[in-house]
Amino acid sequence: MLNTNSSALAEHNEHETVVAKPPFSVKPESLGSAEFRHDYGIKYAYLAGAMFKGIASIELVVAMGKAGLMGYFGTGGSDVEEIKSAIVRIQSELNRGQPYGMNLLSNLENPELEMKTVELFLQHGVRYAEASAYMQISPALVRFRLSGIKRSSRGTIEIRNHVLAKISRPEVAEAFLRPAPEKIVEKLVAEGHLSAEEAALGREIPVAQDICVEADSGGHTDRGNASVLIPAIRSLSKIIMSEQNYLQPIRVGAAGGIGTPEAAAAAFVLGSDFVLTGSINQCTVEAGTSNSVKDILQELNVQDTDYAPAGDMFEIGAKVQVVKRGLFFPARANKLYDLYLHHKSIDEIDSHTKQLIQEKYFKRSFDEVWMETKAYYLNKHPEKLAMIERSPKQKMALIFRWYFVHTSRLATNGSNEQKVDYQIHCGPALGAFNQWVKGTELESWCKRHVADIGELLMTETALILENRMAALDTQIIHRM
Ligand SMILES: Cc1cc2nc3c(=O)[nH]c(=O)nc-3n(C[C@H](O)[C@H](O)[C@H](O)COP(=O)(O)O)c2cc1C
Repeated sequence: MLNTNSSALAEHNEHETVVAKPPFSVKPESLGSAEFRHDYGIKYAYLAGAMFKGIASIELVVAMGKAGLMGYFGTGGSDVEEIKSAIVRIQSELNRGQPYGMNLLSNLENPELEMKTVELFLQHGVRYAEASAYMQISPALVRFRLSGIKRSSRGTIEIRNHVLAKISRPEVAEAFLRPAPEKIVEKLVAEGHLSAEEAALGREIPVAQDICVEADSGGHTDRGNASVLIPAIRSLSKIIMSEQNYLQPIRVGAAGGIGTPEAAAAAFVLGSDFVLTGSINQCTVEAGTSNSVKDILQELNVQDTDYAPAGDMFEIGAKVQVVKRGLFFPARANKLYDLYLHHKSIDEIDSHTKQLIQEKYFKRSFDEVWMETKAYYLNKHPEKLAMIERSPKQKMALIFRWYFVHTSRLATNGSNEQKVDYQIHCGPALGAFNQWVKGTELESWCKRHVADIGELLMTETALILENRMAALDTQIIHRM
């Protein structure tokens, strides 16, 4: 246990005595929604969110599952074969009934990959998906959600597959809170992916029973504010629940900024049915990134992160939150985005800047980067190449996007060269966590295990709530 003084219920000074009422009992296993814990088969309403390219690794997901908690494997950036082998390994290492989930990412550029991922989930019996990056509901998502639903003999609807929708905007939350769009359902029936019964029952349930409100966080972020978003999304879900006459309640949970018991307690007081963490799990033994990254992460304070363009959504200006302490990546990435905004092609950029980028940022010429990029497109998307080559602006975007793939690899591989270019997605929650555990054995990441952190965080959150409630209910008896 860390520095929690749960006996500080009675204090006295010269003038007054504070008499505590009998202590409240708040247990970690009673935080959040009991129904949620039951449906997910987990002991605490605590989840570890996905982190792309297996940073939320097989080991991380398995460790969570063995502890009776759930982690979502980070499928982002992996191909179908890699996702398949992760599912097979996770299933082989967990006993039947031990919880695990997989990330399902919206993929507007490549909807076939999204559909193939869902096919894998259905073939292998994956029942829990964390749906991220959605702006609208996709056929793949609907297929996952509605496959296997049926009416029970008692007349209730039995839903096999659980979607936890990560959102940071009300209009996206609303799309998940409504039943699946009719047009998509009809098309899936016509293609033979859903039965008429599944389609009919689909009209009675939301696309996602569980909405995870993501406030400012590590990785892609809309810089939302939890105390604004959570009540607003809770209200929205209540309105839609009553409009649609759903039989089962929607659960609304919180992610973003949760790295301390105080932050988790605040989320539960705001009405969260569960909490989900990300940044703090990247700095654990189980995380699938390099030791050099973990060494950097364990030193962070709350002010050591910054915003940079997201490489995968570079052209539209989406942002990710990354480590800035000791690194040039955020400044360089922002510079590249600025150049992209203000120039029509690489040729328009002044020669001094072009030289700087090639020598200092890329450590190779634009031509070399373009050859590498071209080879990738010839292999993966040959149909797109001719169009790209006709657009100098898009060609510039792809050359700049190479830097984002490269810097992410430098970090996860723990490369010794170009360390200042490491791209490490992370939010300030980790800085807060580092302050919380300072002076304990958890100061070193080598001692940080993802499931132990979940256990500790939830136990201390319960204690904090218990103490706060007792303090609010304390009677002050003046001696005089
Ligand atoms: C390194 C890193 C990678 C992430 N990758 C993904 C991802 O691939 N898919 C996803 O849904 N969320 C991703 N996230 C977001 C987390 O799942 C989680 O929602 C978020 O980190 C919670 O906020 P916090 O960082 O403040 O704890 C990532 C976060 C981090 C730190």
